[in-house]
Order: sequence, then C-alpha cells, then structure tokens
Amino acid sequence: MVTVVVGTQWGDEGKGKIIDTLASKHDIVARYQGGANAGHTVVHNNQKFVFHLIPSGILHQHVISVLGNGVVIDPASFFQELTELESKGIQVTGRLFIAENAHLTLPYHKILDQIEDRKRGKEKIGTTGRGIGTTYTDKYGRIGVRVVDFLNADIFYQKIQVALELKNYLLQEYYKEATISAEKIVDEYSKFRNKFKELAIDVSAYINEAINSGKKVLAEGAQGTFLDIDFGTYPFVTASNPISGGVCIGLGIGPKKISRIIGVAKAYTTRVGMGPFPTELEDELNEKLRTAGNEFGATTGRPRRCGWFDAVIVKYAAQLNGLDEIIITKLDVLSGLKKIKIGVRYIYNNQYIEKYPLDTNIFENVKVEYEELDGWDENLNSISSYSELPQQAKKYIDRIEELIGVKISEISVGSSREQIIKR
Ligand code: GDP
Ligand code: IMO
Ligand code: MG
Repeated sequence: MVTVVVGTQWGDEGKGKIIDTLASKHDIVARYQGGANAGHTVVHNNQKFVFHLIPSGILHQHVISVLGNGVVIDPASFFQELTELESKGIQVTGRLFIAENAHLTLPYHKILDQIEDRKRGKEKIGTTGRGIGTTYTDKYGRIGVRVVDFLNADIFYQKIQVALELKNYLLQEYYKEATISAEKIVDEYSKFRNKFKELAIDVSAYINEAINSGKKVLAEGAQGTFLDIDFGTYPFVTASNPISGGVCIGLGIGPKKISRIIGVAKAYTTRVGMGPFPTELEDELNEKLRTAGNEFGATTGRPRRCGWFDAVIVKYAAQLNGLDEIIITKLDVLSGLKKIKIGVRYIYNNQYIEKYPLDTNIFENVKVEYEELDGWDENLNSISSYSELPQQAKKYIDRIEELIGVKISEISVGSSREQIIKR
C-alpha cells in the first residue's frame, strides 16, 4: 500500500511536518522527485531538523528511508545532511537507501544553475541554485551521471569528461567564467564512493517487494503542484513532477499500488522565487503574515511572498493529483486578523475564469474575486480537538472545503508533531 503526500500550492506547505506525523504508521518513506532544493522542516522534542534530500520520516527509528530514481542527488549535500543527522544522535545505518539509477547533481550543475539564472536578468526564475534544472537537463540530454556510474571510478571520470566538454566551452566563451576540472571533481568526490556503494540499491525492486509483503510506503513529495514542470506556472517552476503522477515514475511502481493521496495546503499561500501569484498581499499584510508564519525559506533563507488562500489553484491541484483528502497547515498563523479573505475565482479581460489557466500569460494578469470571512483572536497552538476551534476558524475550514470539493481531514496548528487536529 502506498500513500502519497503532495504540496498543493507553491511548496513549503508543511509537508515535512505531515510526513513526520504520518511516518509513525508507515514502514518506508520515499522521496520520488526533486533534489536538495527541498527544505522540509520537522520539529521534534524542541529540536528543529531541516531535510533537503533525506526523507522526513527518518526520525522514526523503525522507518526505512529511500531516495527513488526520480530524485537528483547531490552527494556533497547528502553527506552533509547525513553527518548533521548523525551528530544529533539519529542512527541511519541499515535504514537509508538510494536508487542506483538516480542522477547525480555535481558541482558544475550548481555553478551553471546559478550562472544561468543570473544571465536571465529580469526574467530570472529565482531558482534555489542547487543545480536542479541543470541536472534534469543532462538527464534528458542523455549526458547525466547516475549513481551506478559513480560507483565505478573510471566510468565516473569518463562521463564527467563528456559532460564537461560543452559546458566548459560555454563557461569560457559565452559566460566568461572559470572552467571546471573533471580531475578535481573525481578527486573530491572519491571520498563519497564507499558509502554510496553501501546505500545504492534497485529501489523499484525493493519497494515493490515491500508492498507485496504488506509493508506500508509513504511517498514524500517535494516542492508543490504549481512548481510542476508540466502543470505549474511555467517557466517559473522546478524541473521535476511533484504531482502524484510523478510517484510511479520516480519510484518505479505501478499506478495501482497507490491507494491514498493526501494534499497538504497552507491556510494561506506563500511562494518563494519569481513568478505569478494572484492572491499575493500588499506590503503591510504580506509582512504581517511572513512574521506570524515565520515565512523564510528553509533552504535559501529567502523571505517568502505571502498572500490569501487561493481556492482556484487548490481546487485544480485536487483534480490534478486525484486527492482523497487535504490537510490544512498553519491555521494558527491566521489568529488575530479581523478579516480573512479567500480567492474564489479570477477575472480576466472582464470575464470570469473559474479554473486555473495553464497559460502563464493569462495567469499573470488575472484579478481575483475574494470572499471575506470574519477572523478570530484565540491562539490555536494548544488546541487538540476540532470542537475546541473558534467558530470562525471552523467556518473558514468549512468554506475552503466547500470551494475545493475535497474533504479536509486534519488541521495543523503548530510546527510540532503533536499539534495536529483530526476533523
Ligand atoms: P515543506 O517544505 O512543505 O516541508 O515546508 P517547510 O518546512 O519549508 O515550511 C513549513 C514551515 O512551517 C516550517 O517552519 C514548519 O516547522 C512550519 N509549520 C508546519 N506546520 C505548521 C503549523 O501548523 N503551524 C505553524 N505555525 N508552523 C507550521
Ligand atoms: P519544498 O520541498 C518552495 C522554487 C524556487 C524557484 C523554483 C525553481 O521545500 O516545498 P529550482 O531550484 O527548483 O530550480 O527552483 O522553484 N522552489 C521551491 N519553492 N519550496 C520548495 O521546496 C522549492 N523548491 C524549489 O524558489 O522559484
Ligand atoms: Mg520547504
């Protein structure tokens, strides 16, 4: 049985916290796409963990964590994370695996990602600079380097040389930047090889076997639906498929193995990086939400842009991902607002649009029609049952549920494991 957790907005919905909560009832937690661009926060026993590549279920000692073939793995970032985790007393030996056929993010991917985004000037995407787009580009260009290639030092060297031929030409002639030495990478990365040999497996075979023997798998999405390379606000997107459809490809399992799909939605909306954001707030309220929700990137530290809940996009996400249920996070952050708005439909060229438009040129120029609800003053952090929620907070949840047409099953009211309410 496979349960999928996906972000329904532009990432940072609180997936890390939800995965950590659900992991107690699962045997395996698996990342299926993205790379170290993700920043998934888990707060446990007053300790904060931010996961970039390692799945957010790792804090549970019974859980096996895997990185599927769809993930792009930066060995340097992976080892840094592993070391930090072990230094905090979390033992991972024997319960962390990576897919042999996953692609590697290497130093040139990170350098080129940053140079390319700078070069875009006004049109920049605002990538995380973690080499995500450039790694997936090489994967599809058939000049990528896979985990299996890395395990053999000679093949690794050959593959990097091929990849660097054109890149170094571009760096020197077009970007006027320093070139990159294959020998240096081979030298620096050899220290990671033995550990990779220990961790590399056929993840597809492993997970399928686990499912067949009755194990429960949790597929952890990174990023969010509107950062999806196909369905997001292209070109202001990431380079993978965070949507639930990405799970089959990124783990090597058949669609019939998936039995439950959970969407995570923040009680308002945030976005980090560039790109359209119809319900984005003006300065003062934007700032207020950012402060109340501590909305700063878990990976880059950049301030997140904040806005009202957009029911149009989340409704689209529900359909696109085939959501069975939605978990709302950070409801506590909205306490103290006199009025709370929900974006219910768009207006473009004086006409109503009820559905998220795939044309980014339209999406960039829509106006939003809002519904306004009364806010509440009560602090929600220590509420543990639905009935204790203020009436206005319940009305807000009811209205969102009605607008998106999917059951809201749980509500998160704080960053720690315990702060979650069943509906
Ligand atoms: P992810 O990328 O989807 O895992 O989300 P991030 O970890 O990037 O950002 C979510 C932030 O909100 C983290 O700092 C979490 O600790 C925090 N968080 C998660 N759920 C809640 C909640 O219900 N209330 C509050 N106040 N914070 C939360
Ligand atoms: P989690 O998993 C929020 C954004 C970047 C940028 C765009 C492309 O923590 O929700 P990339 O480096 O992927 O090429 O950048 O995508 N982005 C995220 N925004 N949360 C994330 O991950 C993100 N990962 C990438 O800010 O706009
Ligand atoms: Mg994040």
